[in-house]
Amino acid sequence: MPEMTEVAIIGAGPAGLTLANLLQRNGIRCVVLEARDRSHVEERQRAGVLDHYGSEIFARAGLADAVIAGAFREKFLELRYEGEPHFFDGPSHAGGRAGVIVPQQLLVRRLLATFLDGGGDLRFGAEDVALHDLTTTPRVTYAGGELTAGYVAGCDGFHGVSRTSIPASSLTTYTFDHGIGWYTVLADAPPPRHALMAVSRHGFAAQFARGPQASRFYLEYRPGAEDPREWPDDYTWEQLRLRLGDPALPGGTITDKEIVEMRSFVAEPMAYAKLFLAGDAAHIITPMGAKGMNLALADAEVLARALTGALRGADDTALRSYSDTCLRRTWDYQEFSRWFTEMVHDAGAQDDPFRRRLARARFDRLWANPKAAEWFADMMAGTALL
Ligand code: APR
Repeated sequence: MPEMTEVAIIGAGPAGLTLANLLQRNGIRCVVLEARDRSHVEERQRAGVLDHYGSEIFARAGLADAVIAGAFREKFLELRYEGEPHFFDGPSHAGGRAGVIVPQQLLVRRLLATFLDGGGDLRFGAEDVALHDLTTTPRVTYAGGELTAGYVAGCDGFHGVSRTSIPASSLTTYTFDHGIGWYTVLADAPPPRHALMAVSRHGFAAQFARGPQASRFYLEYRPGAEDPREWPDDYTWEQLRLRLGDPALPGGTITDKEIVEMRSFVAEPMAYAKLFLAGDAAHIITPMGAKGMNLALADAEVLARALTGALRGADDTALRSYSDTCLRRTWDYQEFSRWFTEMVHDAGAQDDPFRRRLARARFDRLWANPKAAEWFADMMAGTALL
């Protein structure tokens, strides 16, 4: 006889771990199956800005101390236009609401520890997960075991098995290539005072603090036309000085180089029979606006509430509207991310002066129109759609 649980969660990333913790607090039995080992999950490096909405999810669940204690609050974002600084004070435009800086691996480590300390059942190294009988009594098989579950939560990221278990005829997918690449380098270079994004005719660049002596830089490049992995480090520094409009920017040793894809993807609906997708399994968003992790957490909260209603309150209304609820937020932020991407990249549209001027108008509106500033701050805080 296979083991039985109320919810089988596939994947222990931010979505799966948040869902697991919220269900645990609601007294719902769940088993998390994670393909990789614990150290891989804990060490996976990803950027992380928890927006105000994301941090409130943990506050509402009574998990703020366990998960976001000591996090640094963000205030200013510097948006530099051709070397000219503009400081955007988000919290003052968003009723004091501000995001917090929590590296994703720290968030994951804390969520893991909290779930396991509370007696949670998380199985690392669960390879070859396969989903069966989703329309009746779901069954999950994996190397070394088998479970039956009331519901399955597919939190296994973009390359996971959950989304591909849905018949193609029951899913519509949207993909969008922004035609932009980002080259990112980690360097031993003094961090900026505030998160910094620079708009320039030479291309977009950004600089964020990574500890007291290190910075992560991002540089836009043209995929297909150039390969920044071939750039000598001196050329990278030259480009950064040009785009940041700071000829005195001190250089430093570059310790890591990566390429970031600027792509968008949405699968709808985010549910099929008794399977519910959350996070990257259902949608990918560009890093502009830093919403990837926050959307994953928002899905997890909606799903935890809906599953609890179905399993404890015998009311599946919220579960039936799960996909619509999450897709509304997902599309709203996809649009925001695209809007933001155009605003900061189109200044470099060499062959399209009209788009360059539109991008400038979009930028100017933020400083000229308090309502526009308020909207931007709300989107950054994640609170525009409550
Ligand atoms: N079986 C079990 N686990 C799997 C499988 C599988 N077949 N495939 C993937 N996984 C695991 C991965 O090892 C990973 O730990 O699922 C987890 C998915 O985690 P993420 O990719 O981090 O996705 P999610 O939890 O939705 O978080 C989204 O992470 O990718 C960033 O920018 C993204 O910030 C966003 C957040």
